[in-house]
Amino acid sequence: KPRVLSGIQPTADSFHLGNYLGAVRQWVALQDTHDAFYFLADLHAITVEHDPKLLRKRTRVSAAQLLALGLDPAKATLFVQSQVPEHAELGWVMQCLTGFGEASRMTQFKDKSAKQGVVSVGLFTYPVLQAADILLYRPQYVPVGEDQRQHLELTRDLALRFNSRFGKTFTPPEPYILKGTAKIYDLQDPTAKMSKSASSANGIIELLDDPKVSAKKIRSAVTDTGREVVFDPETKPGVSNLLGIYSALTDRTVDDLQAAYDGKGYGDLKKDLGEVVAEFATPVRDRVKSYLDDPAELDKVLRAGAERAREVASATLARVYDKVGFLA
Ligand code: TYM
Repeated sequence: KPRVLSGIQPTADSFHLGNYLGAVRQWVALQDTHDAFYFLADLHAITVEHDPKLLRKRTRVSAAQLLALGLDPAKATLFVQSQVPEHAELGWVMQCLTGFGEASRMTQFKDKSAKQGVVSVGLFTYPVLQAADILLYRPQYVPVGEDQRQHLELTRDLALRFNSRFGKTFTPPEPYILKGTAKIYDLQDPTAKMSKSASSANGIIELLDDPKVSAKKIRSAVTDTGREVVFDPETKPGVSNLLGIYSALTDRTVDDLQAAYDGKGYGDLKKDLGEVVAEFATPVRDRVKSYLDDPAELDKVLRAGAERAREVASATLARVYDKVGFLA
């Protein structure tokens, strides 16, 4: 089976629809056909100031959400990044291969550091750690949203650079980014991506929100001038975003939805989408709650995942250490 790997930061109380549609849904789909490794990127979560208690809580909530969304630890290896020390270890080697200018070109760092009072060196080298996360598992594909594309390019560059300096070790992994859901937009600002660090909570649909709250956010989503429900991201980014979400959650095509809303208005679309979201999110919330009722069991699942992950990670690290000239 071809291998896939991906990660998500446990930095919010809930995943948002962008996380799910852009990434996690593909993780679940791929676990049947691929040798899948998925992890909670807690090392990445401390690149900005954080509260330790909250991080621990969010790491468990994130794990519970992945399980509730259909990730099956019997099929996929689910683990916490900090429980596999090889990530930090390969991260160091990759830092020593990365140019300062190259790291400076990462647009996500520019965006994130602009929002931060104190900017840590960890935030700066974050994409390099991400490259190590990926290369440790030598995956063919990395299922992510569009915002991770540049980090994937860096990963490929570092893989090739390592090979040319030290001999063939890595195959550059391919991003796995689905067209329709690669970028879900903020409801209040449909030209910006839906993001945990959005300026207004009204712009993001959180999976664990009360469905009534989500429905209200959808009703107050910024839409466009005109009245027809038409998919046209250029001139109607707000309506197009809603149609994209609707289509993804119901597996109805955008064309089909356009036809169904012919002669109706934005209000109808928003009301129905609120119901679609509620129908999707309600059972997920219930399952999350039941997983969180037994944190000891959750921790056990994660520990077992980390053990499996370490088998692969430690083998890669040993090869790398040997190639760069460390003593065995
Ligand atoms: P993170 O935690 O910000 O996001 C997790 C996943 O959700 C996707 N995503 C979106 N997709 C579509 N529309 C959106 N509005 C949207 N917002 C987020 C992201 O693209 C991502 O796939 N750096 C990563 C975590 C990471 C990682 C890795 C990923 C660390 N190491 C190794 C892959 C491989 C991040 O911050 O994702």
